[in-house]
Amino acid sequence: MKIGILGLGTVGGGVWDILSTTKFQEYDIKVKAALVRNKSKYISYEEQGLNLTLEPYEILNDPEIDTVVEVMGGIDKPYEYIKYALSQGKHVVTANKAVLAKHMEEFLALAKNHNAALLYEASVGGGIPLIKPLKQNARINNFYEISGILNGTSNFILSKMSKEGLEFADVLKQAQEKGYAEQDPSDDIDGTDMARKISVLSSTIFKKHLPLEQIQINGIRHIEKQDMDIAKKAGCDIKLIARSTYEDNNYKAAVEPVILKQNSIFAQVSDAYNIGMAKGDNLSEVSFYGEGAGRYATANAVVSDLLDIYNLEAIEHLAVDFSSTKVNPILADYYV
Ligand code: NAP
Ligand code: HSE
Repeated sequence: MKIGILGLGTVGGGVWDILSTTKFQEYDIKVKAALVRNKSKYISYEEQGLNLTLEPYEILNDPEIDTVVEVMGGIDKPYEYIKYALSQGKHVVTANKAVLAKHMEEFLALAKNHNAALLYEASVGGGIPLIKPLKQNARINNFYEISGILNGTSNFILSKMSKEGLEFADVLKQAQEKGYAEQDPSDDIDGTDMARKISVLSSTIFKKHLPLEQIQINGIRHIEKQDMDIAKKAGCDIKLIARSTYEDNNYKAAVEPVILKQNSIFAQVSDAYNIGMAKGDNLSEVSFYGEGAGRYATANAVVSDLLDIYNLEAIEHLAVDFSSTKVNPILADYYV
C-alpha cells in the first residue's frame, strides 16, 4: 500500500508518527509523500525520510499511490483533490467533516463508480470508533435518532468553565494550544463543526443527506461564567449537544447548548471527550465514548481506516476472481 498524505499538521503528523512505529514494520505500507505549504516548517519529517511536496498533483497523479489521506482542512481544495483522487480509482481516507457535510453524496457515488473506498472514521468523534459500528448496525436496525457531544473544543471550554471557574477566552486559548480547535475556532464555538458532524453521522446511518441548512445551530460563544454558576447551583451543567431525528423521510436536527442534571450520562463527558448515542429498534440505545479531538486519538482513527483498506487490498490480491459478478462483494461494505 502506497500512501500520499495531504497535510502534515496535528493529524497528518500523527498519522506519520503512528505509521513510523516499529509495530507497522510488519505491514507493507509506505508513505510516499506528504503535501504541505511551507516545507521549512516540516524539516524534521524530511529528516526522518518523508518526501515533502508543495504540489498536490504530484501525489494525485502518482500511479504508485493507491490511497490518499486528506488531513489538510478547508473545503474547496479538499473537494477538488478528493474528487480527483476517487476518479483515479484511489482510495481516500479523510478526517474532514467540513468537506464531507457538503459533498459526501458526490464522493460516495464517485467512489462506487471507480471501485474505490471512501472512509472517514476520524471526521466525527476524533478517536472514537463509531462510524464503522454504526454503519454495520444500520443494516440490521432501524435507527431513528442520533445525538451526542461531538466537539472536543467546546466541551473542553464548558468543562473548564464549570470545574475550574475559568473565563471563556482563556480556555479557548488552551484548547487551541492543545491542537483541538479548527483553523477558524469560530467553527467550534458557534456550533458549525458539531453541525457538520451530525450531518455526516445522520447521512451515514439514515442514508439520506442531511444538509447543514436543515440544522438549527446555536453555539456557546454567549455563555458566561455566571450562566455556569447558575446551572451549577441547580445541580446542573451546560453542554453543547447535537441531536438529529429521522422519521417518515424527514429530519429534525439541532445543535444547541443544553442544561443537564449533573448525574446524566452526557454531563459526565468532560474535557475534549465526546459521546455519540444512537437509538434504534433492535438496539434501543447504544453509546460510543472517548477522546473527541487531539493528534494521536484522531490519527489513530485515520490509521484504523488505512488498515481496513490494507486488509481489503490483501483480500483482493487473493486468487479469487470476482470478474464474473456485477457487484464487488468486498468493496460494497464501504458504500453503506
Ligand atoms: P492543521 O494542524 O492546521 O494541519 C493542516 C495541514 O495541512 C498543515 O500541514 C498545512 O500545511 C496543510 N495544508 C493546509 N492547506 C493546505 C494547502 N492548501 N496546500 C498544502 N497544504 C495545506 O489541521 P489539523 O488539526 O491537522 O486538521 C486537519 C483536518 O482534520 C481538518 O479537516 C480537521 O477538521 C480534521 N480533524 C482535526 C482534529 C484535531 O483534533 N485536530 C480531529 C478530527 C478531525 P502548512 O502548515 O504548510 O500550511
Ligand atoms: N475541532 C474539532 C473539535 C476537532 O474540537 O472537536 C475534532 O473534530
